[in-house]
Amino acid sequence: MAKRKAFITGITGQDGSYLAEILLEKDYEVYGMIRRSSSFNTARIDHIFGDVELVFGDLTDGSVLNRLMRTIQPDEVYNLGAQSHVQVSFEIPEFTADTTGMGTLRLLDAIREEGVRCRFYEAGSSEMFGKVLETPQTEATPFYPRSPYGVSKVFGYWITRNYREAYGMYAVNGILFNHESPRRGPTFVTRKVTRAIGAILRGEQDELRLGNLEAKRDWGFARDYMEGAWQMLQAEEPDDYILATGETHSVRELLDEAFGYVELDWNKYVKIDERYFRPSEVDLLLGDASKAREKLGWEPRVRFPELVRMMVDHDRERRHTEEHYV
Ligand code: NAP
Ligand code: GDD
Repeated sequence: MAKRKAFITGITGQDGSYLAEILLEKDYEVYGMIRRSSSFNTARIDHIFGDVELVFGDLTDGSVLNRLMRTIQPDEVYNLGAQSHVQVSFEIPEFTADTTGMGTLRLLDAIREEGVRCRFYEAGSSEMFGKVLETPQTEATPFYPRSPYGVSKVFGYWITRNYREAYGMYAVNGILFNHESPRRGPTFVTRKVTRAIGAILRGEQDELRLGNLEAKRDWGFARDYMEGAWQMLQAEEPDDYILATGETHSVRELLDEAFGYVELDWNKYVKIDERYFRPSEVDLLLGDASKAREKLGWEPRVRFPELVRMMVDHDRERRHTEEHYV
């Protein structure tokens, strides 16, 4: 029997790299779309470089998306590509909307135009709940996005539903709460903290500049969430699902957990820096993943303390040379 073909946008990102591994283990033929970059941007997938088919493209370039859908004819499409940084989305709102919002439409329309019979996964986000209207958040909670990123994801969510309803496409929204890993981008708060701990332990850094310590997030492990994304596309009927741990912790608690693990007092290192406060903040996220548990049998395997320790252990062993400011 021919192998199933999967097409992933955002394969060079945290989630794309885990999803590619999962699909290879399940014997898929994996195609990943990458952007041309002046320096290497494939570090997260270098270990599977020979096993995946990489093709150039960009979510802002509709003609390429059409060509890729026509020539590859995938069975499953995972749209993970995005300008995914919330704070940066205030700096580059138009590019964020073009990639994170319009990119979803371009890809859906390429599938429709080319008559490709595939299942489609959209990387929706808990940022869509923003200034939350109820807690915990479920699939029925109304959206109230608080950033150009969140607004773009709301567009992506509704256009995915619209293509499902209008054209009968098998298109699903995963509404994923924050998920982290040792592959997390270094400018997201968890990784910023665990990388700083590594540098402090090596005597390379004595200060960690952060913004709002009171914000609360529902943090899980990225690989668990990518298993869930795959499970969503295996269900009989297309539907939308939340993936979350059902636990919430503040950035302050993250500091307690991470610094406490290596027996350091974070108060000696952390400085509050106005630059890291957002024009409008999402104060509290807490997800209820009952529907995914009941309908897909999905469970998060890694809990907060284990996740933090996994990331600290990784970053205390590795030396990183990149400079990051956000
Ligand atoms: P990430 O590490 O920032 O990866 C983003 C990916 O998108 C990278 O491969 C990036 O390519 C690619 N990309 C950026 N702009 C693009 C464009 N114009 N055209 C094509 N590709 C582009 O993000 P992640 O954490 O893996 O998240 C994956 C997806 O899930 C994103 O859509 C994100 O918004 C969403 N999400 C994430 C979380 C979370 O907590 N991680 C939660 C909910 C939803 P380069 O490597 O070339 O930059
Ligand atoms: N990045 C960052 N840097 N965040 C900080 C800092 C800092 O120095 N100091 C405090 N924070 C706070 C932010 O204000 C926010 O409330 C919280 O830490 C988490 O920020 P991020 O780790 O940047 O993640 P996010 O919640 O804004 O967005 C992530 O999760 C979303 C799902 O809810 C991203 O992965 C999004 O792409 C994703 O959709």
